[in-house]
Amino acid sequence: MSLNEEIEKRRTFGIISHPDAGKTTLTEKLLLFGGAIQTAGAVKSNKIKKTATSDFMEIEKQRGISVATSVMAFNYKNVKINILDTPGHKDFAEDTYRTLTAVDSVILVIDCANGVETQTKKLMEVCRMRNTPVIVFINKMDREGKDPFDLLDEIETTLNIKLRPLSWPIGIGATFKGVYNMYENHLNLFDINKTKIERNIVSIKDLNDLVLEQQIGGKAAEKLREDVELIEGVYDTFSISAYQEGALAPVFFGSALNNFGVQELLDTFIKIAPSPRGRETTVKIVQPTDDKFSGFVFKIHANLEPNHRDRIAFLRICSGKFERNTFYYHVRNDKKMKFSNPTSFMAQDKSVIDEAFPGDVIGLYDTGTFKIGDTLTEGEKMEFKGIPSFSPEIFKELINKDPMKTKQLEKGIEQLTDEGVAQLFTQQPGNRKIIGTVGELQFEVIQYRLKHEYGASAEFQSKTLHKACWMTSDKPEKIDDFIRRKAQYIATDKDGNFVFLAQSAFLLQSAQQDFPDITFHTTSEFKRATV
Ligand code: G4P
Repeated sequence: MSLNEEIEKRRTFGIISHPDAGKTTLTEKLLLFGGAIQTAGAVKSNKIKKTATSDFMEIEKQRGISVATSVMAFNYKNVKINILDTPGHKDFAEDTYRTLTAVDSVILVIDCANGVETQTKKLMEVCRMRNTPVIVFINKMDREGKDPFDLLDEIETTLNIKLRPLSWPIGIGATFKGVYNMYENHLNLFDINKTKIERNIVSIKDLNDLVLEQQIGGKAAEKLREDVELIEGVYDTFSISAYQEGALAPVFFGSALNNFGVQELLDTFIKIAPSPRGRETTVKIVQPTDDKFSGFVFKIHANLEPNHRDRIAFLRICSGKFERNTFYYHVRNDKKMKFSNPTSFMAQDKSVIDEAFPGDVIGLYDTGTFKIGDTLTEGEKMEFKGIPSFSPEIFKELINKDPMKTKQLEKGIEQLTDEGVAQLFTQQPGNRKIIGTVGELQFEVIQYRLKHEYGASAEFQSKTLHKACWMTSDKPEKIDDFIRRKAQYIATDKDGNFVFLAQSAFLLQSAQQDFPDITFHTTSEFKRATV
C-alpha cells in the first residue's frame, strides 16, 4: 500500500468528557462495534475512582491500566482507527491536554442531564486553540435530561462552537423512542429490552412518510416534524469542510450503555473525520505525505516496577514511514538513536512493529532520553510546535527532608517532571524548587515515587500563587526590567524560560497595567524570554 493510502485510511482521535459522562463506556462500545473486543466489560476503566483520591497504591494500579489503554487501535471497514485515551480524573488534566496535541479530531461526550460541566469547558478550550474538529455525542438519553434544544444552546454558548444536529431524539428518558437520523434519513428505534448490537433501523422517504406514525405514534411524529423544521430553520446545513476546520460540530444523541447510537456515530465518524493533516514545526509545515519520517513525543509513562527505571515514550508519527532498527535524529539532544522494539497497541495487545505511518502512535522504550515535546526526524533540525505547557493551578515548594539524598532528589524530580507528572520552576537565590500541578493528587504521586523509586524524602510547602506566566515583548529590555523589579516572583521553567509567578489575579492585572509592553501568557507556547 502506498504512503498516501496508509495515511488516508487512518483516523486518530480522542474521546473527551467530564468524568462520568460516559467516555469509558463509549470507548468500549466503539471497540465492540469495531470488532476489536468481543464482550462488554473487557476494557478496564482507566479512571481513578473518586473514592481513591488519596490512595496512591490505587493510582499505581491505575497507571498500569492506563498504559494498556493509552492507545487503542483497530480496523473498521478498512479504516485504521487509533483512539488515544485520556485520563478522566481532573487532576491529570495536563496529561489530557497533551494527548489532545496528538489527535486529529475528538469526540466530546456530554451527559444529557448535566450538560456542559467544568472539565468539558477546559478540554474544549484546548481543542479550540488548535481548531480540532469535534463531534458531539449526547449520552444517557435513556435517562431524564435537559430539553435537547436547551442543551444545544448551552453547548454553543458555553463552549463557543457552532453545532449542527445530525440525529434528533424522539422523547427522552422514560419516553425515549429512538433517534431520527437526518444525515441518512432513517429512524433508529430504541428498545430498552433489546440493547444488543443489532439495530432496529426503519428507512423513511421523508418526515411526511406515514410509517413515522406507525412506528412512533401520532404525537411523537408531530413533535419530531416540528423539531426538525425548527432545526432546518435555525442551524446551518452540515458541511464536512466546516467540521474539519473546527468551525462546526455535528451532534449525535444516544446511549452508550445501551449500545444505542454508537454505530451511527462510528459510521459517520469514519466518513467525515479527518485523516492526519499537516503540522507546524519551527521551520515549516510538515505534511504527512512528506517522504521523510518525523514525529513527536506527547506522553511518557514510567515503568511500574521501581527497580527498572525504563519508561515508555509515546510517539505520534507525523510524516513518512517509521521503521524498526533505523537510526533517527533526536533533535533536542542532537543525537542519533534507533529502536529495536517499538510497540504498537492493537486494542489490548501490545506487539513489536516493523513499521508505522502518520497518525499512528508507537511506544518507544526509553531510559531517560526523552522529554515531552521531543521531536524525532531523519536528520532535519526542526521541532513540532503546539505542545505547550499550561500554567499549573497549585504550587508548592519542594523541601528536601534528607540532605544525604540531595542528588537522588534532584534526579528524581528532574525525571518525574520530564515525564510530565508536574511542572518544575526554579527560583533564585538558592535554587528553590516550586512544583506546579493541576491537582493535589500529583503531590502525593511525586512524594511516593521520589521515596520508592529514588530513595529521596521530600515534603511540600504550599505557596499562594495564582498563575505561572510566560512573557513576550517586542522590547526585550522591558522584560529585563520587569525581571529585575519583580525578582522575588520570577522563576525559570525546565527549559530555562523566565516565568512570572503571579500571587493573585489582582497582582497579575496590575503587572499587565504597569508593563503594557509585555504580554503575559498562561501557556508556554509563546515562550521567548530565555535565560
Ligand atoms: P467516564 O469514563 O466518562 O467517567 O464515564 P463511564 O463510562 O465510566 O460512565 C459513568 C457511569 O455512567 C457508569 O455508571 C456508566 O455505566 C453510566 N453510563 C454510561 N453511559 C450511559 C448511558 O447511556 N445510560 C445510562 N443510564 N448510564 C450510562 P456507574 O454506575 O458509575 O459505573 P458502573 O458501575 O456501571 O461501571
